[in-house]
Amino acid sequence: MKLSPSQPIGIFDSGVGGLTVAHAIRQLLPQESIIYFGDTAHLPYGDKSAESIICYSRKIVGFLLEKKCKTILVACNTASAVAFKDLKKFLGVQVQLVNVIDPVTKYIGKGNYNKVGVIGTKGTINSGAYEKILKNNDPELDVISMATPLFVPMIEEGFIYDDISNAIIRSYLSDEKMKNIDTLILGCTHYPIIKNQISKFFNFDINVVDSGRIVAEYLKSILTERNLLNTGNSPRSQFYVSDFTPYFEKVAMMFFEETIKLKKIDFWN
Ligand code: DGL
Repeated sequence: MKLSPSQPIGIFDSGVGGLTVAHAIRQLLPQESIIYFGDTAHLPYGDKSAESIICYSRKIVGFLLEKKCKTILVACNTASAVAFKDLKKFLGVQVQLVNVIDPVTKYIGKGNYNKVGVIGTKGTINSGAYEKILKNNDPELDVISMATPLFVPMIEEGFIYDDISNAIIRSYLSDEKMKNIDTLILGCTHYPIIKNQISKFFNFDINVVDSGRIVAEYLKSILTERNLLNTGNSPRSQFYVSDFTPYFEKVAMMFFEETIKLKKIDFWN
């Protein structure tokens, strides 16, 4: 298939979390059209089996291919950790598939860090994906991983700047093993929403890294390399979810930081 720069970028997540990455892409590459799919009917992915996540992800990737996406970004750490290899095989060479873990681990590899913490869903942390790549890049690096499964429902329910969220953040991050980390990777695309509170918990003393800008820069570099960067100026973005409530649209706007219209599309039945 011959790809052209005017084709859209396909992005998917289990829900609205990936909108934090889509938003960073919109800011860095405003000329690109985006087709976003949030699999809200199956949210959360964090405690699902790898088999289920692979099955959902294949279907979504098929949908984004039908929409003629020139590249597909897995904007979910859990799917990146447990389904990416399978999806790459499934897709073959049709379009470039990008995940959110590789650009972030590359970014860390270029810095000078001693003790790095990684937080994410149970699926991401239990897969050991971050730890394996980070240790492979630098065997001397001390990597501390911790699942923080309450963060996703807490954020989705809008507990963000209050006593409840601060208590949950404190309860996880005051764990002894997180002592003396110099960097914390937010290994879940939901977590940038609470980045400020997390930084505050560490008295703004550590480097808190989220995937948005890093993944957007990475995408820009691979599109440039392949002569697929759009230079036209009429981007048209579409946002789909597999289940829908009006509340969801409100939450989605909080993630994307601008007005969006979600369309429900149900290809599961
Ligand atoms: N946003 C997803 C991730 O980056 C997690 C949300 C979920 O558990 O579905 O892992």
